[in-house]
Amino acid sequence: MILFVAFVGLLVAAIVNSDDPFHPQFHPGPATHWMNDPNGPMYYQGNYHLFFQYNPTGPNWGDMSWGHIISKDLAHWHHLPVALSPDMAYDKRGVFTGSTTILDDGTPVIVYTCVNSGQQQCVAYPANKSDPFLTNWTKPDYNPVIKDPPPGGVAGSFRDDTTAWKSGGSWKLVVGASINGHGAASLWDSKDFKTWTYVHPLYTTTQYGMWECPDFYPLHDSKNTYALKYSAGGRDWYTLGSYDESKQVLVPSGNATLFDYGHVYASKRFYDPVKKRQIFYGWVSEEDKGGSQRGWQGIQTLPRSLTLDSDLAIVLSTPVDELASLRKTGTSMKNVQLAAGQTMPLKGVSGLQLEIEANFTFDKAAASQRFGISVRMSLDGSMRTDILFVHQNMTGPMNNTDLPGDEYRQFPYKVGNTEEANIALCKETCDNETKCVAWTYVRKGDPVVPRCSLKNGIPHLNPNKFCVSGIKRTNMSETTFMVDRSKTGGDGNQGSVQAPLPMKSGEETVTIRAFVDHSIIESYAQGGRAVITSRVYPDASADGVALVNYGSQPINAASVQVWPMNNCWV
Ligand code: FRU
Repeated sequence: MILFVAFVGLLVAAIVNSDDPFHPQFHPGPATHWMNDPNGPMYYQGNYHLFFQYNPTGPNWGDMSWGHIISKDLAHWHHLPVALSPDMAYDKRGVFTGSTTILDDGTPVIVYTCVNSGQQQCVAYPANKSDPFLTNWTKPDYNPVIKDPPPGGVAGSFRDDTTAWKSGGSWKLVVGASINGHGAASLWDSKDFKTWTYVHPLYTTTQYGMWECPDFYPLHDSKNTYALKYSAGGRDWYTLGSYDESKQVLVPSGNATLFDYGHVYASKRFYDPVKKRQIFYGWVSEEDKGGSQRGWQGIQTLPRSLTLDSDLAIVLSTPVDELASLRKTGTSMKNVQLAAGQTMPLKGVSGLQLEIEANFTFDKAAASQRFGISVRMSLDGSMRTDILFVHQNMTGPMNNTDLPGDEYRQFPYKVGNTEEANIALCKETCDNETKCVAWTYVRKGDPVVPRCSLKNGIPHLNPNKFCVSGIKRTNMSETTFMVDRSKTGGDGNQGSVQAPLPMKSGEETVTIRAFVDHSIIESYAQGGRAVITSRVYPDASADGVALVNYGSQPINAASVQVWPMNNCWV
């Protein structure tokens, strides 16, 4: 009876969610309820496992347990029962984030953060190692295996265990911590996986007060580069460097960089022994307020393989090739010409589950280029999310140029100032406001009062003898990747996101790849050199795709391919 009720419950959840226009259908995750961090991904006896922070009883954070799904190919998934529940005195306030490690004899072990009055670290072993699904886990009596935070640490800010690795003849493990008020990757050592002793911070900086979900792993390049990853300030960062095993520290070679400039947090990666690659998942929370009424909240990104571009010192994130097995018959086009300012809806191409790949010609000599694809577009084009490549090959104020649109504020010219001083003031005001991306100063002579207009986007350029405009050069590169949600529709976040997208010398093609799955859009440029993940909540009828060119000169899309995608649930 209980089983029957559970089965009907699952069925109802599945039906509810396939009717829900926002629920993704080819991204891994539970059928319903709350999900946050990916946990303990691994490959074991023919299956890829993915666990996740899960509330088995409701759509909000709480009762933290480990949900569990498995896949043979990282594309098609099965749901399994909850793997770990908060059922011990030491974890009654939550089975928080952790990882799996495969021991020398092939046994997988989970290390997770067990929460009671403080945060400690606990282990769990499979009840039956020969069950390839690993549905039952046991928590040994000797838990917790790490009881106290490191010196200078805080019991309530000590969590999220990494996969352990062997170095110097013993196991090493990193736990997120706040040491003397600073975010740190605290390093621990064990011979038997039972008794752990504190070493020191593997790495720490003063930028954030706490690091959640740290990780440390090699990128398997010729220089043996390591990535140190942490989650802080709502974003996921990596610092590249080398691993000094004699001192047990990361020797950084650069600054912290984002894996994804969009809405991804608390990511976790694992090493795939089958295809010898690092694979990443990240938690993508809701970006609207309707989540709990829908009965579920949270998505995982598609599995992304991580590799190093050593020239650019950037970790490239690319959805795993296996996802191609979810493609239905696609549409493909070659040499599509787009006039300046043109939006070209793709005829016969629509859907809420799509993969799109477009290759455009990049002209470095052009003064400005701004093109890409529009997705989740309504028939009249009023609702859409733009995924754009932006190239600004210009400096300083541009005379006789207007940037119409994207204005968030304007102010009149300052009487008594010369025109030059007013133009300088306009530029300076933009430089000083975080929100400001571009500005236009309207000169005297225009029927309207001379004024400065501040913009939170970069509209296309228009010749206009009354205007002087400028685009703010932040620390962004001259070429950027951008998701513009100003016309997205619905009541979700309408903010735009811009990411630096350095181009290599001689590169003449811009590749934009997007995965649209109901309310999630994963956007990749140049093979994962820049990634932006966004949530959007337009009407279900907004299902069109277009090529767009907001630039001032024609552009060529050498090839465009669109595939409707199957559901990932088996
Ligand atoms: C990150 C996080 C982790 C913690 C888990 C609890 O999103 O706060 O630090 O282990 O979520 O659900």
